[in-house]
Amino acid sequence: MPEESEQPEEKSEQAAGRAAAIAEDSSPEQSEQSEQSEQSEQSEQSEQSEQSAEQAERSMRAAHRPSMAAAGPYGHPIHPMLVTIPIGAFVATLAFDIASVLIEGRAYGRPAVWLSLIGIVGGLVASLFGFVDYRRLTKGTRAHAVATRHMILMDVVLICFVVGFFVRRADSNYYLYGTPKIALALSVVGVGIMLIGGWLGGKLAYSYGSRVADESDQIKAHSLSAPSTD
Ligand code: HEM
Repeated sequence: MPEESEQPEEKSEQAAGRAAAIAEDSSPEQSEQSEQSEQSEQSEQSEQSEQSAEQAERSMRAAHRPSMAAAGPYGHPIHPMLVTIPIGAFVATLAFDIASVLIEGRAYGRPAVWLSLIGIVGGLVASLFGFVDYRRLTKGTRAHAVATRHMILMDVVLICFVVGFFVRRADSNYYLYGTPKIALALSVVGVGIMLIGGWLGGKLAYSYGSRVADESDQIKAHSLSAPSTD
């Protein structure tokens, strides 16, 4: 047993001996040179990481601010306020579509047409404001990539409901026989994709802080000593 416990110590002594032997073997000039190159490598690396930290800080601060006045003032973006209209209208469209197929009388198909139209118009307006915030994100960053995915998914949602709207309009009996099956399927797909796209939108706002005020400003609202100015 004592032999076993001595083994790691022996090994580390041997390793230290080998390192010392290598150091002794190399000439003083050589070891000085290698020390210098090691130091310059280290300082290059720390300079690089400082630069990338500065770049990330600059990109994040830019994403906190509006790119133009129309996007809403600092700390009050318009896009998240507007998205409630298409989200509510599209979910309600799906609910009425299902009701129009399931409930006798089937008159629920008519409000579904109007709700989908409200969602489409609201979604287009919300998208404009979303795009203005999107322009604030730095290309090549994870935030920009997630925003691109969010944009594509939300555009697909809008396409689903626009096509669904024309399918409803083409079927003049929709209010007698319920929402056409193709329009119902498009509503199901559209709301499903909207859930994924909305999740990514939430990630942009709450994980990556797009259009969220700087922490140095947020902290003032949590201080007991600083009086309220709002
Ligand atoms: C029907 C269309 C859209 C809907 C329903 C929608 C929905 C959302 C939701 C739910 C959020 C999270 C905000 C919160 O939870 O309050 C969000 C954030 C965001 N969306 Fe959209 N979005 C839409 C279109 C777009 C488009 C086309 C873009 C352009 C790329 C975009 C860019 C953004 C950005 C940058 C954010 C982060 C918060 C901000 O900067 O305002 N969105 N969106």
